[in-house]
Amino acid sequence: MDINALIASRIPGHSLDRAFYTSDTVFQTDLDIIFGQHWIYVGVEPDVPEPGDVVTVDIGHHAILIVRHDDMSVRAYHNVCRHRGARLIAGPTASVGNIVCRYHQWTYNLDGALIFAEHMNPDFDRTCHGLKPVHLQSLAGLLFICLSETPPADFDDMADALTPYIEPHDPRATKIAAQIDLIEEGNWKVTMENNRECYHCAVSHPELTVSLFEHGFGFAPDPGNAAKQDAACRYDALSARMKADWEQQGFPSSEIEHLADRATGFRTERLPLDGTGESQTLDTRAACRKLLGTLKNPVLGGLSMWTQPNSWHHFMADHIVTFAVFPLSAERTLLRTKWLVHKDAREGEDYTVEKLTAVWRATNAQDGALVALQQSGARTTGYQPGPYSPFTEGLVDKFTSWYINRLRAHTAG
Ligand code: FES
Ligand SMILES: [Fe+2]
Repeated sequence: MDINALIASRIPGHSLDRAFYTSDTVFQTDLDIIFGQHWIYVGVEPDVPEPGDVVTVDIGHHAILIVRHDDMSVRAYHNVCRHRGARLIAGPTASVGNIVCRYHQWTYNLDGALIFAEHMNPDFDRTCHGLKPVHLQSLAGLLFICLSETPPADFDDMADALTPYIEPHDPRATKIAAQIDLIEEGNWKVTMENNRECYHCAVSHPELTVSLFEHGFGFAPDPGNAAKQDAACRYDALSARMKADWEQQGFPSSEIEHLADRATGFRTERLPLDGTGESQTLDTRAACRKLLGTLKNPVLGGLSMWTQPNSWHHFMADHIVTFAVFPLSAERTLLRTKWLVHKDAREGEDYTVEKLTAVWRATNAQDGALVALQQSGARTTGYQPGPYSPFTEGLVDKFTSWYINRLRAHTAG
């Protein structure tokens, strides 16, 4: 398979060639280039609240452990022993003093240094056999890793732009109230394309659209549809009024969009919610009585934030929902969803997991079915790349364009 020819054959404004969704060769290229050389969203600081807490993340053939150090910094290492390669932390989480390989008990401290290795030659140099570090950055408590030795240099620009939007929700001072892993039967790019549009929202997401307007996600109504045009006008008026209020209260709201013009692509915007305007719940009221950070007003809309290649997030006054996409194979993808509430919120008193998770449990299941539906057709011989809607899929095009451009940047020459 000639990756360069595939890249060159991409038709702008269209979905990708079949091989991008099905080929094992492209899948390995995606792991090496997209997931191996860009900033990848992996989790949140509350995954590892205490020193010695570990969470593991697998991205294809990359296995990473993330650990809270005694100095409260968060570190990432390859989750593999420097002796004969045993996986160090077997499960999804652990709590450790040092990191001990269970095979022959080589032992590493939280700095990654090898501090114990029995029965080795006297001239064996332990300092050459520490854990391999992985670049890690925390964006207001959201954890990103980069497996490349030379990560894209624009992470700080993204962090500078996004931190003022996120900080009022204080992710560092949250706890994970619920986490669900969903395996979708599709290529990871099908999962991402599905996320980047609300063309399908009105028909497919009855629970989500109780609170979420389809507008604000790159959705512009068809000029020929008067009812949708009216709804868009009402939404625009509401949005302008809410954003002016929020800005006055010190909550940044206006759109920042750099999805396709940089290595570390991102987008954010604070959007009004329907109904009471409080939260993405079935009755649009806050799911958690204790609000995030020091927030007092539950009507803070939904701060939507996306990063390329693999995440999206909704920050509300009462809770945060955060989504990470991890490729499993050419045609299978893991979607990991976490619901975060204030760390002092009490389950059963301030919130219930049932209410907190109801909307996105339903929405993820619906999206998972749509991903499988697209994959099942796109893998057949009758498929050919189809045109994106200029009104509702501009941000899907920015995702695929970013993807193609990043492949091109790393394969050129
Ligand atoms: S493989 Fe880890 S100590 Fe031998
Ligand atoms: Fe959806």
